[in-house]
Amino acid sequence: MTPDPIQDMVPEPYRVRARRPDRGEAVTLTLEPAGGGAAPPFRPGQFTMIYAPGVGEIPVSISGRARHGGYLQTVRDVGAVSHALCRAGRGDVVGVRGPFGTSWDLAAAEGMDVIVAAGGLGLAPLRPVIRGLLAARARYRRIAVLVGARDPGGLIYPREPARWARHCDVRLTVDRPDRTWSGHTGLVTTLLDTVGLAPERTYAYVCGPEVMMRATAGELLRRGVPAGRIALSLERNMKCGIGRCGHCQLGPLFTCLDGPVLSYAEVAALLEVSEL
Ligand SMILES: Cc1cc2nc3c(=O)[nH]c(=O)nc-3n(C[C@H](O)[C@H](O)[C@H](O)COP(=O)(O)OP(=O)(O)OC[C@H]3O[C@@H](n4cnc5c(N)ncnc54)[C@H](O)[C@@H]3O)c2cc1C
Ligand code: FES
Repeated sequence: MTPDPIQDMVPEPYRVRARRPDRGEAVTLTLEPAGGGAAPPFRPGQFTMIYAPGVGEIPVSISGRARHGGYLQTVRDVGAVSHALCRAGRGDVVGVRGPFGTSWDLAAAEGMDVIVAAGGLGLAPLRPVIRGLLAARARYRRIAVLVGARDPGGLIYPREPARWARHCDVRLTVDRPDRTWSGHTGLVTTLLDTVGLAPERTYAYVCGPEVMMRATAGELLRRGVPAGRIALSLERNMKCGIGRCGHCQLGPLFTCLDGPVLSYAEVAALLEVSEL
């Protein structure tokens, strides 16, 4: 469909159908079109711009499709707009634009071993990747899902890893354990040694804070995985979300339009540039 810049700037009213507090000051909202019907199709890795009335608008990844056709979107309370969205209750109306942006290419990993590496809230855009891989399990060889968080409270979607683990290798780690934690401790990169990587046939999907993505991509490269087979999602500050304002520019790229999902081969040098 041809992009329509005026239409793409107008938020559609969406109603909060459900609100589930997650861990680590995050809340998962089920948002559905206030006028009825299903939300538009999305591809794993895409995001919407969500407008909290009277407060502002932020980009948020789509974490899945809800049973009634809406979007699942997980928001962490870090500032004014995310705070307002985290406080939204069932029945409240917000504005939604999108979905926008590039997506994770699941077909590119067919026939290969797959690593999904998530840091903290980076699991939100990777959740549809994991579900997509598992829905077509026979098309992939080994699948390892590696999830890291600063502390046990930062591990979002706590019930899902046990479900995924029926079909693939799932490993969790935290940087700072507390007394509830008896699992692996250390950065998510320390899990790479536990999965027995075959670099010549590995494809990796990586999302988390930029420092985590750089470290994970560096470790994968060091083990022989080519940069073109490491896909990242860049979360630079965004305003318009459709390539008009330049706010998200990273070198020659507009991360809202050319990204957020990009290969490490495309962005390695640019990642040295800090946020504007
Ligand atoms: C493509 C994309 C997908 C995203 N997906 C999600 C998601 O699924 N869930 C979620 O909670 N957040 C997501 N974010 C980040 C989210 O947009 C920011 O947390 C939000 O813009 C902060 O706005 P605020 O008004 O609440 O806080 P502000 O007052 O604007 O910022 C509060 C703090 O958050 C930092 N911050 C602001 N924007 C970003 C950003 N883009 N990335 C990282 N830190 C930021 C600021 O530097 C500041 O320290 C995504 C961002 C992008 C670009
Ligand atoms: S957010 Fe405006 S150009 Fe990307």
